[in-house]
Amino acid sequence: MTDIERTEFNVQDSPYASSGGGFGQGGREVDARAQFEELDAESNLRPKFLGEFIGQPKVRTQLDLVLAGAKGRKVAPDHILLSGPPGLGKTTMAMIIAQEMGTSLRMTSGPALIRAGDLAAMLSNLLEGDILFIDEIHRIARPVEEMLYMAMEDFRIDVIVGKGPGATSIPLEIPPFTLVGATTRSGMLTGPLRDRFGFTAQMEFYEVEDLTKVVTRAAGILGVEISGEAAVEIASRSRGTPRIANRLLRRVRDFADVHAGGVIDLGAARAALIVFDVDELGLDRLDRAVLTALIKGHGGGPVGVNSLALAVGEEPSTVEEVCEPYLVRAGMIARTSRGRVATVRAWEHLGLQAPPGTLGE
Ligand SMILES: Nc1ncnc2c1ncn2[C@@H]1O[C@H](COP(=O)(O)OP(=O)(O)O)[C@@H](O)[C@H]1O
Ligand SMILES: [Mg+2]
Repeated sequence: MTDIERTEFNVQDSPYASSGGGFGQGGREVDARAQFEELDAESNLRPKFLGEFIGQPKVRTQLDLVLAGAKGRKVAPDHILLSGPPGLGKTTMAMIIAQEMGTSLRMTSGPALIRAGDLAAMLSNLLEGDILFIDEIHRIARPVEEMLYMAMEDFRIDVIVGKGPGATSIPLEIPPFTLVGATTRSGMLTGPLRDRFGFTAQMEFYEVEDLTKVVTRAAGILGVEISGEAAVEIASRSRGTPRIANRLLRRVRDFADVHAGGVIDLGAARAALIVFDVDELGLDRLDRAVLTALIKGHGGGPVGVNSLALAVGEEPSTVEEVCEPYLVRAGMIARTSRGRVATVRAWEHLGLQAPPGTLGE
């Protein structure tokens, strides 16, 4: 199915592409390493194999079986949907799937697929066993989605050539491929699209213990000296999210470089997190703005997400996809049929007394 030349991540076609690409010779390890050196700080920290992926034990076990089954039968794995809030490792996992299967990854995203032709172009370039990664798949346009149904199910699409009464449809065969979709809003996927995925991996927020491993691993890669306590401190303020853990680590490193001789101990970590506006629970400025709008602006709710978004000057989708999942998981807000409601914890977090009858008393 594949040869060694195709084992590197094939990101040339992607909206995330960096320059360069094809390293042919030298084998898989070297290729992958060379490719990764070109990518930014975040990518350097991405685990490359399933065994290196920290946390998400359920997803790892399930995915391991799906991939091993496909390898054993020498077929492309079923289409896979990765669902969960931003920064939990969906893109990383898509790359790992390609790496584990020894195939290429082609990356695109829902918003980039506007016309059916955009998708047809991607599909017609696929080789057998390739992984097609569509990020934010809940944002693809309707005609694209319909073409995707057929491609996923029958590895075939109809390409419309010409316009008006003279238009004809030409069937085009696609080599068997695996679609990996990522979404922060699986609820926004239509039923038919969701049904065409053979496996859905639901990524959950990470426990502090796992995030501590993420921080320690990243510090090792970055060559930063960090104490165990400091790693736990950063981990516990990272909103259950590896991307945030890595970002906080880089900011704390900046602080430690300037003020602490480059060594991150607990004191340096705490001082740095104050400078960067991260509170004890890891809530950032936007999280606190949402809580403040909900409590001080609307008496604790219920209030609709659109009003909240307006109050904090963000898109409703940002509030819904970035802020709320963690605030809900932290027990700060509840989603009710009438809108968002602040809990006692949220009031207390802002240093306020919750009125009688508040949720979570
Ligand atoms: N399980 C993990 N172990 C270590 N690092 C991780 C893990 N999951 C994510 N990361 C790191 O977090 C960052 C964001 O991950 P990414 O896959 O881009 O998230 P998503 O696509 O879900 O938004 C990456 O830089 C990656 O290094
Ligand atoms: Mg991503």
